[in-house]
Amino acid sequence: MKCLFAIILIFTGVNIYAQNDAKMNAFVTSLMSKMTLDEKIGQLNLVTPGGAVTGSVVSKGVDENLRKGYVGGLFGITGPDKTRQAQQIAVNNSRLKIPLFFGLDVIHGHKTLFPIPLGLSCSWDLALIERSARIAATEATADGLCWAFSPMVDIARDPRWGRVSEGSGEDAYLGGEIAKAMVRGYQGKDYSSTNTLMACVKHFALYGAAEAGRDYNSVDMSKIKMYEYYLPPYKAAVDAGVGSVMSSFNDIDAVPATGNKCLLTDLLRKQWGFKGLVVSDYTSVNEMTNHGLGDLQTVSALALNAGLDMDMVGEGFLTTLKKSLQKGKVTQQQIDNACRRILEAKYKLGLFEDPYRYMDDSRPAKDILTSGTRKAAREIAAHSFVLLKNSAQVLPLKKTSSIALVGPLADSRRNMLGTWSVAGDFTKAVAVIEGIKNVAPDANIIYAKGANISDDSMLIKRTNVFAPDEIEIDKRSPDEMIAEAVAAANKADVVVAVVGEAADMTGEASSRSDIGLPQSQLNLLKALAKTGKPIVMVLFNGRAMTLNWESENMNAILDTWFGGTEAGNAIADVLFGNYNPSGKLTTSFPRNVGQIPIFYNHKHTGRPFNNEPNAKFKSNYLDVSNDPLYPFGFGLSYTSFNYSDIKLSKSNLKGNETLTASVTLTNSGKIAGEEVVQLYITDVVASVTRSVKDLKGFQKILLQPGESKEVVFKITPEQLKFFNSNLKWDWESGEFIIHIGTNSSEVKSGKINWVK
Ligand code: NOJ
Repeated sequence: MKCLFAIILIFTGVNIYAQNDAKMNAFVTSLMSKMTLDEKIGQLNLVTPGGAVTGSVVSKGVDENLRKGYVGGLFGITGPDKTRQAQQIAVNNSRLKIPLFFGLDVIHGHKTLFPIPLGLSCSWDLALIERSARIAATEATADGLCWAFSPMVDIARDPRWGRVSEGSGEDAYLGGEIAKAMVRGYQGKDYSSTNTLMACVKHFALYGAAEAGRDYNSVDMSKIKMYEYYLPPYKAAVDAGVGSVMSSFNDIDAVPATGNKCLLTDLLRKQWGFKGLVVSDYTSVNEMTNHGLGDLQTVSALALNAGLDMDMVGEGFLTTLKKSLQKGKVTQQQIDNACRRILEAKYKLGLFEDPYRYMDDSRPAKDILTSGTRKAAREIAAHSFVLLKNSAQVLPLKKTSSIALVGPLADSRRNMLGTWSVAGDFTKAVAVIEGIKNVAPDANIIYAKGANISDDSMLIKRTNVFAPDEIEIDKRSPDEMIAEAVAAANKADVVVAVVGEAADMTGEASSRSDIGLPQSQLNLLKALAKTGKPIVMVLFNGRAMTLNWESENMNAILDTWFGGTEAGNAIADVLFGNYNPSGKLTTSFPRNVGQIPIFYNHKHTGRPFNNEPNAKFKSNYLDVSNDPLYPFGFGLSYTSFNYSDIKLSKSNLKGNETLTASVTLTNSGKIAGEEVVQLYITDVVASVTRSVKDLKGFQKILLQPGESKEVVFKITPEQLKFFNSNLKWDWESGEFIIHIGTNSSEVKSGKINWVK
């Protein structure tokens, strides 16, 4: 098969590690000259002695392999004492004393948990996102680690997929900006200091496009779509100097990513210039056997040939590469290349200078879960919440109100942290009820659980695999619980209903075909609605959900994702107006599952539907609108913002000129607030079909009541570029529409003509 990746021009961008480090090369060359073949293959082996297990294999004989020098790194253990123990074995007992590196899924914080990545992305605040990664790196390195399996940058347009929670939503441009911010946060300028670590961008590639939203499923997509909408965030991380890349589980063009040479070598290394190490996902080498590509020896050779350096957990490299070398299925050079990249990573981490540099026993007490990290977590969480509805300004609440606080997530520390919080301790999290009592001590709180998160036994069993009490089943009957909640509502001025998904209803292996609130909770809300009391729904979710009934019947909806350690305090800050919400959705909320995949930057069709009442032969549904319930970029504030018409500096441009587009933004409400002003561009005519519009910039603006500001965007031909039929990244002369607005559906627009 022809590798189409090979014909694409190199994207522009500078890899900050591209310079040849002569000293490092000399060191690694000299070390490798002393290594046996077995020791070299040993470096390609990443194992876990337990802990963070996301599949069936737990590595056996780790201790013995460490002594033989057959392990390159460990993941799934934390604490300087434990990592030191393992390091001592490698350094004192293996022949060449090569240190190990220690990795973990540090995804949205380490011990101090920030909002899940989907929530973080809704802040549209790159400085805050970078800060969250900086703190995570400081905590993780204080905990004995030097490698984080993050950022996860998979673009996802299907909220059935449980791992939408781990990424930054549906937009490639925003996803790329966030990827860079995360890499900067984790790695700093480089990752040589002891409070930075090596990041790992994942899952390369296209994992978020699994068919039917079912995890680990196949991916099949056109090259143009891949280049335009799925690859940019990985590329952005590479340009930002990310030290490692993790291959994904899915196949692409009928070859699993882990054994896909077009992807791992032609695209990643040759075209993007990536110089770091590529690690497989958990047993993804072995899983190529299930994909139907042959036995373990065959697929391990395939992976090495494709450009994979390190085998996570599967030990296919360890047990078969020597045989494959003897049979001529792989070359010595390929083994050497992979080994070199792993040793280089260790060199850059400073491990050859001091193998114990990330194992300082004095650090945990001063760097982990401090008042400072908690304060940051509270602030960042508040910025991630999205206000979806606020009729009659029911929010913010008065601090002296009488509040019926109901719902299965109102008093659940267990569910505050969200998915992938492997090092987090939920007992340190702040539940919503605690946060409300902290922020509004004079409020009269009448608490009632009201419902279980779900009463569906299969869902409960599958969700509770790791944490048996995540969906906690009350001894009382559903009717009794609802009756108690209704009685509480009747005594109160307002109801705050804290509902949604359990933490592990999203994340890995947590796809859902029904993405609405579980029936038990809908029954509760319906009973509460009958009381006539105003209801504020606080939603916990790791994905876009279908909320039709809720959007019509709740008075306010605050989407809080999974807010992390300080979730309860941050939610209370927003409910009572200490912080005016400013988050905007980075994923479209469908009206029903039948609309999926749904995303704002869809293509024009030949038969566009313009909401004509009697439309026939148009691209629409008979039973639901084409529009999402809440569009990409949407989010309300306690204040209101007014956008002037758009001003464009020119209407005709030529070549490399710069266009200035601006609006005057006014805070027309009564309190200060932040607004994410979004820039989109439509390419009206091109040689290939283009989307209706694409995000090209954004600015987060703070305005005092009555204050106005001109928000200016500079536009160059760079922002007009797209991948054409030859997969060339270029722009074409013609008409463009520039849009500036408050979300992807509400914009002020103006036309220009731009010729080459
Ligand atoms: C499998 C997941 O897909 C990946 O994201 C994670 O880093 C590894 N397991 C290690 O836990």
